[in-house]
Amino acid sequence: MAYNLLKGKKGIIFGALDESSIAWKVALKAKEEGAQFTLTNAPIAMRMGAINKLAEATGSTVIPADATSLEDLDNLFTKSMETLGGKLDFVLHSIGMSPNVRKGKEYGDLNYEWYLKTLDISGLSFHKVMQTAEKKDAMNEWGSIVALTYIAAQRTFPDYSDMAEAKAVLESIARSYGYRFAKLKKVRVNTISQSPTVTTAGKGITGFDVFIDFAERMSPLGNATAEECADYVITLFSDLTKKVTMQNLFHDGGFSSSGITEQLIERLSK
Ligand SMILES: NC(=O)c1ccc[n+]([C@@H]2O[C@H](COP(=O)([O-])OP(=O)(O)OC[C@H]3O[C@@H](n4cnc5c(N)ncnc54)[C@H](O)[C@@H]3O)[C@@H](O)[C@H]2O)c1
Repeated sequence: MAYNLLKGKKGIIFGALDESSIAWKVALKAKEEGAQFTLTNAPIAMRMGAINKLAEATGSTVIPADATSLEDLDNLFTKSMETLGGKLDFVLHSIGMSPNVRKGKEYGDLNYEWYLKTLDISGLSFHKVMQTAEKKDAMNEWGSIVALTYIAAQRTFPDYSDMAEAKAVLESIARSYGYRFAKLKKVRVNTISQSPTVTTAGKGITGFDVFIDFAERMSPLGNATAEECADYVITLFSDLTKKVTMQNLFHDGGFSSSGITEQLIERLSK
């Protein structure tokens, strides 16, 4: 059911790789709620071609950008404002990648060049996106910027490796830039800490199935799905959450506040 929550709003959605991507679901819901937006992803991800299908379904233009490249980001914001005919009301940062995780490097044997790449792609890029938006004066007042994160920023999940540090950086940037953007333009900045979700990025983590099962049993409401995450993102883009800013918001069925659950005890006592 649609509520017209984003009627007349314009934005940029980063990170729709395929139908399982959280950003893909956000794009479909944003369209349903009346928004207009451009879609973007790293040039290398364009080769898969799936994003064109989403562009067709949502009437959006695709503008490739490597989120670590200031030049690409400058072009993205310029072209997005041209295409959409004005400034932006929302931005979704749904980006994560660790070469160390992808190549199966142990945490005690990390390649530091790759480590810096992880931090750049998954953490710093959020700052680059907002700095570009600020310099180009691309945001409307009361706009909303959201990035997706994971609880490994607060607690250790061994196989998450250097992504944990990247997420800690990301969440800290949300607070620091959230302060700045609130003062400058009344723009809010938040991160959503999502349950483990079956997507391309999610599946990169070793033992992901066990992980999902554990999280499901540790969450009194069960794991939050990508669709439910998209619903939450839409509320943060809407005018119903104007004073929510500089927050890391858990969207995890209660996982983050649970010590142990009956479902887990039942499983472990078998
Ligand atoms: N899947 C999960 O379990 C889970 C849980 C919590 C948070 N998250 C976060 O949600 C976000 C979206 O991930 P997803 O699960 O939808 O997976 P996904 O693989 O569909 O999305 C990750 C996206 O990052 C993009 N990307 C990688 N490098 C990039 C670059 N240099 N420039 C621009 N884009 C780049 C990829 O092309 C891809 O579209 C990520 O931040 C991820 O860490 C995922």
